[in-house]
Amino acid sequence: MNYRGPYRVRLDKKPIPFCEHVQDAVVRVTRSCICGSDLHLYHGLVPDTRVGMTFGHEFTGVVEEIGPEVKNLAVGDHVLVPFNIACGQCHFCKQGLFGNCHESNSQATAVGGIYGYSHTAGGYDGGQAEYVRVPYADVGPQKIPENMDLDDAVLLTDVVPTGYQAAEMGGIKPGDTVVVFGAGPVGIMAARCAWLFGAGRVIVIDHLEYRLEFARTYCPAEVYNFLSLDDPVVFLKKTTDSLGADVCIDAVGGDAAGSALHTLLGTKLKLEGGSAVALHWAINSVKKGGVVSIVGVYGPTGNLIPIGNVVNKGITIRANQASVKRLLPKLIEHVQAGRLNPKQLITHKVPLEEISDAYHIFSAKLDGCIKPVLVPPSARA
Ligand SMILES: NC(=O)c1ccc[n+]([C@@H]2O[C@H](COP(=O)([O-])OP(=O)(O)OC[C@H]3O[C@@H](n4cnc5c(N)ncnc54)[C@H](O)[C@@H]3O)[C@@H](O)[C@H]2O)c1
Ligand SMILES: [Zn+2]
Ligand SMILES: [Zn+2]
Repeated sequence: MNYRGPYRVRLDKKPIPFCEHVQDAVVRVTRSCICGSDLHLYHGLVPDTRVGMTFGHEFTGVVEEIGPEVKNLAVGDHVLVPFNIACGQCHFCKQGLFGNCHESNSQATAVGGIYGYSHTAGGYDGGQAEYVRVPYADVGPQKIPENMDLDDAVLLTDVVPTGYQAAEMGGIKPGDTVVVFGAGPVGIMAARCAWLFGAGRVIVIDHLEYRLEFARTYCPAEVYNFLSLDDPVVFLKKTTDSLGADVCIDAVGGDAAGSALHTLLGTKLKLEGGSAVALHWAINSVKKGGVVSIVGVYGPTGNLIPIGNVVNKGITIRANQASVKRLLPKLIEHVQAGRLNPKQLITHKVPLEEISDAYHIFSAKLDGCIKPVLVPPSARA
């Protein structure tokens, strides 16, 4: 996959990566997904996204080569690779903040390295490819358990941990009402995980009927189309005894629809770090003293959000990139026990060669698409 500029990606031939460092590995990809986060790149919203980059931060693969210092992996191992590139040694990795590694993206003060996610996130090529170089190979990759379906495994690289962490950061207490903005794969998984933390009521908001329909039974959740609500905030207040939800989760990020002003300033003129409509709604519809949990991705610049209301309502806001490695042991258990069924989110399996169609279908939300997975030729044999 080769990025050519906003809304343009194509198939291309690049040299096969090799171990550039003693702690690297190279994996031959067996599955890789397109994520809502890739759409921010595809729509040209992420600074320093360079022509020629290969995207893809959700992938599984077979280890083909290892550097001389790699101890935990062997050639032939089939692994799932967390989207965060983490050194395992720095101040942040030691606290389990694998999404904020200080070594893998040392030019940045916020995010750590992420596969295929622009030079803002370190400039590493990603997994929408046949081969990927995996730095710090002893830290990230996790051997896929024998009995685990590859389609479940690939969703453990991002969607499942991100949805789970969204719910976890919400600090959900038994009986809480949780509102999730966004019925993409991440929001759906956040809503499903909210139950694992004891939620008493789970509400999902989006404007795509087919996704809301899926969320209704999969999560399960009460679902509402914001296009049919005069004002989503007033509606949510009314349906929660006029107090507001205990926890609101933003699983939309900078591509949010729902406000012409935010779209103009955030995505067209790029004066804000994306369109912050869902975040705006989350802040205004959470209870006083409640928690807003943000996993939706925004650009770094200021946003037209009601920060004054954050102060006056005494809201706790929690946000981060998911720390995949920290959560994997628990989540593998949930999948193996059948409490989470991630592969049911996969609606499209597309040959890697059809990458530009896959981006178009996912970006334009065509054909009932929830989660597309790319399969390279060698994994189809
Ligand atoms: N923090 C992390 O670690 C992490 C990891 C993965 C993804 N993400 C981010 O999570 C977000 C969701 O990812 P995804 O793969 O589910 O994306 P997606 O694009 O498939 O889903 C986003 C959904 O939000 C809906 N939406 C748009 N405007 C809305 C609004 N105002 N209110 C409610 N819903 C609205 C869209 O219709 C869509 O269904 C993205 O911003 C992505 O970058 C973060
Ligand atoms: Zn992702
Ligand atoms: Zn680190």
